[in-house]
Amino acid sequence: MISPMSATPSIPASPPQRADTGWTHKDLTSIEALTADEIKSILDTASAFKTVGVREVKKVPALRGKTLVNLFVEPSTRTRISFELAAFRLSADVVNISAATSSLTKGETLKDTAKNLEALHADIIVLRHSSAGASQFLAERLDASVINGGDGAHEHPTQALLDVYTILEKKGRIAGLHVAIIGDILFSRVARSNIHALLKLGARVTLVGPRTLVPREFEKMGVAVTHDLDSVLPDADVVNLLRIQHERQRKEYFPSLSEYTAFFGLTQQRAELLKPDALIMHPGPINRGIEIDSDLADSARSVILDQVTNGLAVRMAVLYLCAGSRNG
Ligand code: CP
Repeated sequence: MISPMSATPSIPASPPQRADTGWTHKDLTSIEALTADEIKSILDTASAFKTVGVREVKKVPALRGKTLVNLFVEPSTRTRISFELAAFRLSADVVNISAATSSLTKGETLKDTAKNLEALHADIIVLRHSSAGASQFLAERLDASVINGGDGAHEHPTQALLDVYTILEKKGRIAGLHVAIIGDILFSRVARSNIHALLKLGARVTLVGPRTLVPREFEKMGVAVTHDLDSVLPDADVVNLLRIQHERQRKEYFPSLSEYTAFFGLTQQRAELLKPDALIMHPGPINRGIEIDSDLADSARSVILDQVTNGLAVRMAVLYLCAGSRNG
């Protein structure tokens, strides 16, 4: 059972060696590959780093001399900036590359781009890519650490880590909680990583959405599947609303956005079915008025911006642990 976090752990000044943390991975490409203890190790390390964000001097020397490259081949606001700030706070040097300004547009392969970054002494590459498995592909071919910043509809591991960190911070536990993940599950890397993390930490998970976006096959992962949102809300401790992924849908999966909202949007009326202390989460970016009522997104029950804040500490922990493993 994971212990409630406190602000007491000491802040590491330099990258740990393998023996210090028990962490043995140079890369983080999926939650599926992690054990519950490895997830807890990241959360505990994030807890130590969270205190850095509220200091007057928001910086520690843990990754001084290291170079992080943010290689984002798909758009991002939260993940890219969060990794960039996390690296700054650990005193690493940061370079940002987007697809539009890279030689990927001239036909260079992802592997060649990454090998060139490594030849320039990149220590850590954070990759966001539209292809599932892209970060694992690089991790197997590079000495540099590779962190998955989201690969197609496969996984978004740091999003799931910041989500479970936020639940743990607000609820004091993960085990035994009932988490409803609502919406576009089929195309959601956030959903897949959350399912793995929540089940490993002992939560109960229910997926809710249209039959076309939440097929029964997901039950094989050990979760419940339903298409009736109103039946789930009264029992949920956490509702995590997912964005409709227009860019990944190759055909219409529901008749219209207004019909989607009518059946699966968290409206003010539906929110009255929730327990008073239920958390409302969303990974962002939000489609206001579609998957969530705009006022609810800004309400006291919403922890959406806490998720963003916690993402910084979680990403500091991931960079620190992976860089330390590479040193070991
Ligand atoms: N949640 C998330 O991954 O947001 P971005 O696409 O803005 O990084």
